[in-house]
Amino acid sequence: MNDLEFCRHVTKWYHAHGRDLPWRHTKDPYRIWVSEIMLQQTQVDTVKPYYLRFVSRLPGISDLARAEDDLLFKLWEGLGYYRRVRHMKEAAIQIMNEHDGRFPDTYDAIIGLKGIGAYTAAAIASIAFDRPNGVIDGNTLRILSRVDARTDNIALARTKKAFQARMDGLIAVSRADDPVLGGPSSFNQAMMDLGAMICVPRKPACDRCPVGSLCEARKAGREGVLPVNIKNTAKSDIYFITAILRKGDRYFMIKNEKDGLLQGLYGFVQYEVESPVSFEEAFYEEYGLNVRLTEYVKEVRHVFSHRVWHMNVYYGEITDDARDHLYTAREVLSLPVSTAHQKVARAGEERLLP
Ligand code: ADE
Repeated sequence: MNDLEFCRHVTKWYHAHGRDLPWRHTKDPYRIWVSEIMLQQTQVDTVKPYYLRFVSRLPGISDLARAEDDLLFKLWEGLGYYRRVRHMKEAAIQIMNEHDGRFPDTYDAIIGLKGIGAYTAAAIASIAFDRPNGVIDGNTLRILSRVDARTDNIALARTKKAFQARMDGLIAVSRADDPVLGGPSSFNQAMMDLGAMICVPRKPACDRCPVGSLCEARKAGREGVLPVNIKNTAKSDIYFITAILRKGDRYFMIKNEKDGLLQGLYGFVQYEVESPVSFEEAFYEEYGLNVRLTEYVKEVRHVFSHRVWHMNVYYGEITDDARDHLYTAREVLSLPVSTAHQKVARAGEERLLP
């Protein structure tokens, strides 16, 4: 395949048909960083309003470095994977201390920031600074597998490494001073859009593809079976009893202190136990309070990347005097609550919402 021709066709198509997204109206590396972190595990349409709210409330790196955790979690509530926003604050502090408050402009310096991996570093370096670093993700792996008709398993690290070199080779052709190519920023975003809009996993729209005539998979009629993507997807199942516990008109909520997925977020009490009685015993052990589970609500499931939580939700009452951890229903609504436990709250809506 002729690389220059490939880059020209893809970028020309992008300038005519690419998506108009809020973070594409700026070269501000801070804003591009915010968008890329949000886009790591969340769909474009979901991210849009979160992005606009975040950058309007925290318009610069120093605002993020100083922000209260409760505000950050509130701005992030519903996006999930909250570790992302905690790392962003740490990175903002790092930029203030180590880079004089200016966002670093090379791939190597960007990847040194907390919470930034190869994809995000390449995306920011290319989009904000036109550095020739290709992005490798499901979209670009799929496009490259198809155009070159390669049968390497894209789930393997060594395939990603080989395709990274291929992407970097292509992006090096995309010079910013060429009016059609428009530089690395355009090339990476063109590939993202091609993967999201045309070269989609099932039933790719080859008849509308700007590089359909260059695609080896299409020539061989193999676009339907590429890429090869065979991974071990075993997820572990965890079973909880999760209780919406009430004392008078207030609810018992705890803040996650453990360093993990949900640190800093509030939730209901849950234990990996098999019966309501075992829950009551575990609760007494932890808080020194007697509770009685009174009614089964239903099972609520929440899927994380490597885990599935099965939460068997019960209503319950605290029968001893209690003072700590209690919130009115109104207060519960204003706390940053993990997405998993927002589902629990909705399952118990009848009681929780007055
Ligand atoms: N997914 C990840 N980064 C993206 C971007 N900059 N534009 C669209 N989709 C993306």
